[in-house]
Amino acid sequence: MVIMLKALLLGLSAFQAVSAEKPSYTELYRPQFHFTPSKNWMNDPSGLLYHEGIYHLFYQYNPGGATWGAMSWGHATSRDLTHWEQQPVALLARGYPNNITEMFFTGSAVVDVDNTSGFGHSGKTPLVAMYTSYYPYAQTMPSGKTVQANQQAQSIAYSLDNGMTWTTYDAANPVISDPPAPYSDQFLNFRDPNIFWHKPTKKWIAVLSLAELHKLLIYTSKDLKNWTLASEFGPVNAVGGVWECPNLFPLSVDGDDDNLKWVAMIGLNPGGPPGTIGSGTQYVVGNFDGTTFTAEADSLYSGTTPPPSDSIVFADFEGTGSFADLGWTPAGDLIGQSPVNGTLRGQNPVTGYLGKRLVNTFLNGDATTGTLTSRSFTISKRYINFLIGGGHDFNNTAVHLKVDGQIVRSATGTNSESLSWQSWDVGSLLNQTAVIQIVDTSSGGWGHINVDEISFSDSMARSQVANWVDWGPDFYAAQSYNGLPPDEHIAIAWMNNWQYAGVIPTSPWRSATSIPREFSLKTIDGKATLVQAPTEKWGSIVRRKALDRSWSSLNQGTKSLGSVGKALQIELSFSDREPAAAEASQFGIIVRATPDLKQQTRVGYDFSTKEIFVDRSQSGDVSFDGTFPATYYAPLAATAKGQINLRIYVDWSSVEVFGGEGETTMTAQIFPSDSAAHAQIFSTGGNTQNVRIRINEISSAWAD
Ligand SMILES: *[C@@H]1O[C@H](CO)[C@@H](O)[C@H](O)[C@H]1NC(C)=O
Ligand SMILES: *[C@@H]1O[C@H](CO)[C@@H](O)[C@H](O)[C@H]1NC(C)=O
Ligand SMILES: *[C@@H]1O[C@H](CO)[C@@H](O)[C@H](O)[C@H]1NC(C)=O
Ligand SMILES: *[C@@H]1O[C@H](CO)[C@@H](O)[C@H](O)[C@H]1NC(C)=O
Ligand SMILES: *[C@@H]1O[C@H](CO)[C@@H](O)[C@H](O)[C@H]1NC(C)=O
Ligand SMILES: *[C@@H]1O[C@H](CO)[C@@H](O)[C@H](O)[C@H]1NC(C)=O
Repeated sequence: MVIMLKALLLGLSAFQAVSAEKPSYTELYRPQFHFTPSKNWMNDPSGLLYHEGIYHLFYQYNPGGATWGAMSWGHATSRDLTHWEQQPVALLARGYPNNITEMFFTGSAVVDVDNTSGFGHSGKTPLVAMYTSYYPYAQTMPSGKTVQANQQAQSIAYSLDNGMTWTTYDAANPVISDPPAPYSDQFLNFRDPNIFWHKPTKKWIAVLSLAELHKLLIYTSKDLKNWTLASEFGPVNAVGGVWECPNLFPLSVDGDDDNLKWVAMIGLNPGGPPGTIGSGTQYVVGNFDGTTFTAEADSLYSGTTPPPSDSIVFADFEGTGSFADLGWTPAGDLIGQSPVNGTLRGQNPVTGYLGKRLVNTFLNGDATTGTLTSRSFTISKRYINFLIGGGHDFNNTAVHLKVDGQIVRSATGTNSESLSWQSWDVGSLLNQTAVIQIVDTSSGGWGHINVDEISFSDSMARSQVANWVDWGPDFYAAQSYNGLPPDEHIAIAWMNNWQYAGVIPTSPWRSATSIPREFSLKTIDGKATLVQAPTEKWGSIVRRKALDRSWSSLNQGTKSLGSVGKALQIELSFSDREPAAAEASQFGIIVRATPDLKQQTRVGYDFSTKEIFVDRSQSGDVSFDGTFPATYYAPLAATAKGQINLRIYVDWSSVEVFGGEGETTMTAQIFPSDSAAHAQIFSTGGNTQNVRIRINEISSAWAD
């Protein structure tokens, strides 16, 4: 959950205007097989609970409008995780709509089978939810406990009618009031309890996040009311934004029930996967003994991934001299300046650079501007790799490659002080003379750029700072189900991103959930790796086979598949191949294309970088946020037999890709027009062998 006070709009007029009719779920961007609330704003799943044959989906909900605000728990139920029934709001913001004194932020829910809480009566098993209470005002609660303005604390509520209505535990809420002593100043950022039953120790566990400190706190309890701090975890791996929405759950490795490992899944905002802006979800594999989570060494990353071993370093900004001494021509405020270390300036520490110094154009603040121009050089290798951080603005905080005075390649930061690798493929520019220019013409927020280790190589440099649950821009606040049989692990995420969540062009609702995904661990390259598959339960709505074709060799170029539909399940497999030397070597499918291809979403594989990509730069309406039109990449190795396998799920406003056995997934929203139902195959940089494509059209889960 994110605090967005500026967005605290109740949107009452929208609320009142909604008609009582059952919605048709046929609006332009309405997902057909992903859950959406019929109207209004949704964010994090907040209590995923399977109980007596029913999958409950509670979620962050604004009952009064389609932007964040008045946070309450919305509710939907399903028997198959696909056909959902909308239910009344489960926990309505206290005081709504006139004077909200408590909001119900993200949390989770359990079945208290043994009535440990004592909430049960008349033979009824209590369901118990724990959530973050957010208090807009300082006040004394009915329990007599006082809370501060804007405090986040943890409270519980229970249900005796199988989750349909809930009673807050006013006698003692909040049950975890303040962060523990060393972190008591963190009461504004203490949230998102994930509770579950730990059978071996016969205790309840609550995992909480100290968002700004990148720490998880683990509490235990015998009764869900009285909680004791047991341990803490973090910071580790990706820390480019706040840590939120933690989850901790066991998975067997390679299906072996005697080899259980625990997975900590953590939302990160901003600071998501490389190349995305905004929210992301990482995981850490480890062990949990009922009190402490310990990460496995091979699930942790420290320091910056070094550049490829064949690299020729062009500029590492080391030594002691100024930019001019190092052969760069400074202009503007950068005249007379030198590279610096990451802690010198009055900003958050800069991380992820190599050696002792880097370029940081944050001088006396973001207001300073200037450029640095390199000496000229001959392009000698296929890739120019560099570490980059700072502001995200291709025009004003950027690095450019110039040939004959023309900008031929550009890169920018991701609004993060953590540098990561980016690369330019300059295979088509070999032997040409070029200069590199570092540009900071921005004086506003994020008006600086950080650069280090510019180097030339035959391969692309990539940063690995985390295990990403999903490499796309729209998979956040993932939560796994409580109450499932021990060998079943299903998770659902919010299919959106705080970067633009409030302005996506949907109406009268905003936000969908991801496809429910089955999680497991599989040993890949000697390492326990999270693999994901869409739950098969939803297969019942796949309508008909739209296409099933194969080619032993498909020529370079494109092949139209005609109008195949707007909600699709696609299986695509093909052989890996040697990339062409000087041009992009890609194979893939264009979906949701208009007949003139002006709108199109490209999903494919790049043979030179061994990456899946989703290119939504021309996917339809991309106008509402400057960072939305972009291409995203995720690593995927070919199978032992040299095949690439992709499963792609296309809905009216999303694309989800499951690569390989599900070890790489990518989720991205798209907003194409109604006529964008065409598909096309493309092969660039050569022919592609052993192509098989199957497309099934998926019917609406709302229609039947
Ligand atoms: C809203 O409730 C708070 C807390 O009880 C109180 O301090 C405040 O005066 C109330 N505001 C209005 C407009 O009623
Ligand atoms: C649960 O515990 C309470 C408090 O001890 C008790 O009153 C109630 O009967 C119990 N309910 C069940 C179903 O066991
Ligand atoms: C809460 O739990 C702790 C640890 O089990 C115990 O020492 C303490 O007495 C309990 N407090 C209450 C009020 O039950
Ligand atoms: C960074 O540079 C400043 C000034 O040169 C120095 O005082 C400081 O110790 C350096 N910090 C690190 C981590 O190297
Ligand atoms: C960047 O500049 C190009 C033209 O040089 C312009 O079309 C584009 O709108 C600018 N983008 C931003 C974010 O200013
Ligand atoms: C670049 O120059 C090298 C050495 O002169 C030559 O072998 C190579 O063919 C040239 N490559 C291109 C693409 O011009």
